[in-house]
Amino acid sequence: MNDVAGAPPLADVLRVAAFAWARLRAGTSLDRALELAHPAALAPAHPRLAAAAMDVAYTATRHLALIDAVIGRLSTRTPDVPVGALVAVALGQLLVSRRADYVIVDQAVRAAKANADTRAASGFINALLRRWLRERDTLLPEFERDDSVRFNAPRWWIDCIRAAYPHDADGIFRVQRAAPPLVLRVNRRRTTVAAYLDRLAREGIDASQVGAYAVWLHTPRPVDAVPGFGDGDVSVQDAGAQLAAEWLGVRDGMRVLDACAAPGGKTAQLAEIANVQVDAVEIDSQRAARIESNLARTSARAHARICVIVDDVAKPQSFAPKAGYDRILLDAPCTASGIVRRHPDIPWLRRPADVAQLATLQARLADALWPVLAPAGRLLYVVCSVFPEEGERQVERFAAQWTDARAVPLTSGMKASVQLLPGETAAAQPYRGGLPTVHDGFFFALFEKS
Ligand SMILES: C[S@@+](CC[C@H](N)C(=O)[O-])C[C@H]1O[C@@H](n2cnc3c(N)ncnc32)[C@H](O)[C@@H]1O
Repeated sequence: MNDVAGAPPLADVLRVAAFAWARLRAGTSLDRALELAHPAALAPAHPRLAAAAMDVAYTATRHLALIDAVIGRLSTRTPDVPVGALVAVALGQLLVSRRADYVIVDQAVRAAKANADTRAASGFINALLRRWLRERDTLLPEFERDDSVRFNAPRWWIDCIRAAYPHDADGIFRVQRAAPPLVLRVNRRRTTVAAYLDRLAREGIDASQVGAYAVWLHTPRPVDAVPGFGDGDVSVQDAGAQLAAEWLGVRDGMRVLDACAAPGGKTAQLAEIANVQVDAVEIDSQRAARIESNLARTSARAHARICVIVDDVAKPQSFAPKAGYDRILLDAPCTASGIVRRHPDIPWLRRPADVAQLATLQARLADALWPVLAPAGRLLYVVCSVFPEEGERQVERFAAQWTDARAVPLTSGMKASVQLLPGETAAAQPYRGGLPTVHDGFFFALFEKS
């Protein structure tokens, strides 16, 4: 049964999403799990099956704690993994009510019957989903008294954010639960923000400027439906993320190290800002391949000499020029606690010890790179995290370690470091005083070698 014209059957969508959900719960990131849940292998091919399964799996992940609570309460024993996964993604759909309840339950039962490892449990799945429909009005308020359910994060994660931001924590959680804004970076080599906004208006697309080169499309859409995306006129990049390359202060002719470069959003941006020579270094060869496709789409090599290098930035002696770099952008691996609204799986994949482990790695990378910065050169440290261990604490340690490191303002009128907390899309003025207000959570710090 096809409940929405042109859409893949919901039963197939649920099966693919359930496959990804099971892998997510075993510790695989949701995006990787969705790649592994190759739709063709699981269900009859349909051009929109992968996108629909992604939507269903993401919806369930945004309600992971609540779904666990529901299954825990309504089943007498823990269901087998494939059964629990199918129930979970179907519950996710019932929670957001985008289709009639009876359609979702019917399609979940069909999905169960189509697979050998869920067939015997189709009655159980039917009964559990129906019971949820009967009892949800009583159970939901009860479950939502639990912070873990309200904020969709493990208790330790909530405690860490509360300890760091006693006054802002609830705001952070609220933003992180909202749908992420689609923000674009306008390629200044090809067009202007004003011209691009005109183009959007002509095509009837609501948008506003949220940064010097950042445009927020008020209604998200797939990238292939974003005007000019395929031609490289714009790229998808959060307005906060766009600040890093801007604040690095690159000028024509500079030698730049883009450390930890994949998928290459900032590499392409550097080439849009100035005619630079960039070494884009990435440890993961598969992810490094994505840098190349980003550079090709934005024609970045028309303006910059860019060398994509698969290597470990902790050992820069193998790729750094003798004279050192004029600029180093260290976009370090981190907990990604600032981008949870884009990746709701993050709090569920991390363990408490990860914060300290990642902070140790970030310190190692920063210490390894400082010696390959040329005199008077600048290093910008950035993480998409809100945990102070990865931000302010990191900078205090770095400044104590390197006596020739001088903290310099990120841009005129600003301090040498800033913690941006995720900003709401409902902000009355999305772009104020040269700073975006619609952005993810980031920490930035700028040092100059004296
Ligand atoms: C935050 S992402 C970088 C995003 C990228 N700068 C952009 O704007 O598109 C961090 C990247 O660092 C890479 N990475 C982690 N450890 C690394 C290391 N020791 N050397 C080089 N790259 C590393 C990861 O594989 C990941 O692709």
